[in-house]
Amino acid sequence: MQLIDPFGRTVRDLRISITDRCNFRCAYCMPEEGMAWLDRKEILTFEEISRLASICVGRFDVDSIRLTGGEPTVRAHLPVLVGKLSQLKVRSGADSPRAGKKIDLALTTNGATLRLLANELKTAGLERINISLDTLQSEKFFRITRRDHLTNVLDGIDAAIHAGFSPVKINAVIQRGVNDDEILALARFGREKQVEIRFIEFMPLDAQGEWRANSVVGQDEIVAQINQVFPLEQVAARGAAPADRWRYLDGGGTVGVIPSVTKPFCGDCDRVRLTAEGQFRTCLFSTTEFDLRAKLRGGASDDAIAAEIERAVGTKWAGHAIGNVTFVRPKRSMSQIGG
Ligand code: 5AD
Ligand code: SF4
Repeated sequence: MQLIDPFGRTVRDLRISITDRCNFRCAYCMPEEGMAWLDRKEILTFEEISRLASICVGRFDVDSIRLTGGEPTVRAHLPVLVGKLSQLKVRSGADSPRAGKKIDLALTTNGATLRLLANELKTAGLERINISLDTLQSEKFFRITRRDHLTNVLDGIDAAIHAGFSPVKINAVIQRGVNDDEILALARFGREKQVEIRFIEFMPLDAQGEWRANSVVGQDEIVAQINQVFPLEQVAARGAAPADRWRYLDGGGTVGVIPSVTKPFCGDCDRVRLTAEGQFRTCLFSTTEFDLRAKLRGGASDDAIAAEIERAVGTKWAGHAIGNVTFVRPKRSMSQIGG
């Protein structure tokens, strides 16, 4: 059975945050100090996560799962979870190009420890990996993440490429006055490494409420900057994927831009989210959550859990309204929801 929301969108992609903790303190995501972490017992166990995932895949034809955080690699034994989830198969009768096959399992990471983990994750069955990298300058890296790990992240990117992940994608959040002068350098880096850089418009999900509309660098400006030096041609239709993509005319690969603010892609959204403590959300910007952990720990049957997921999806809204006066910031910041 498909999970269809009130606006006719089918849910296919489940994003699972497996920890709210992180070894970085990116200024646009967390305060420097004083984050209140969830207690160990509040966080879903691997068994609980696997049970929810298998309900979503087995009953609702979800064909793609992405693990996020916080920083997912700080959770101990991550390859064990990857090993469990990578066994999940999409129902053979499902309306999915993956019907009868394994789900598309991906990970979003800051890359800090990936040089130590990449091979193990690949062996455990992880297919795709997105690594965050907002700057190539070590001082600026420290200013953005408040950690001195640029070299480790660059090594992590190389390790992911060598481990055979395909594709490896790099996420770069662009903020005016912070790293908008590095758009071209990052594009060049992607061309050299043969990885896809995806520029992300800065969203109002920072922990400190410092987001301002004028700190967003929009898609048009990003593409224009790159196109001046490396001519681009847009790649057709993105479907439900959030990135619009361009191809370098000289064969240098592709580059993406995720225009969350200037051109919201909510109309095609096929995603739902599970927070580390088992709250189900139908949008990054939701102000309501559905407590699946209470169901799990209260002894609910798979049927009852599935019914709660359907109820949640039945409340999914048409889209966020960043920029409208009616926009209400969610109480959680990015690290507490999962990117
Ligand atoms: N706006 C846009 N992207 C963000 N991320 C974290 N906070 C924000 C924000 N306020 C990104 C991270 C990572 C992904 C999980 O989300 O850089 O690439
Ligand atoms: Fe950690 Fe990612 Fe937040 Fe940076 S953006 S503090 S890496 S969770």
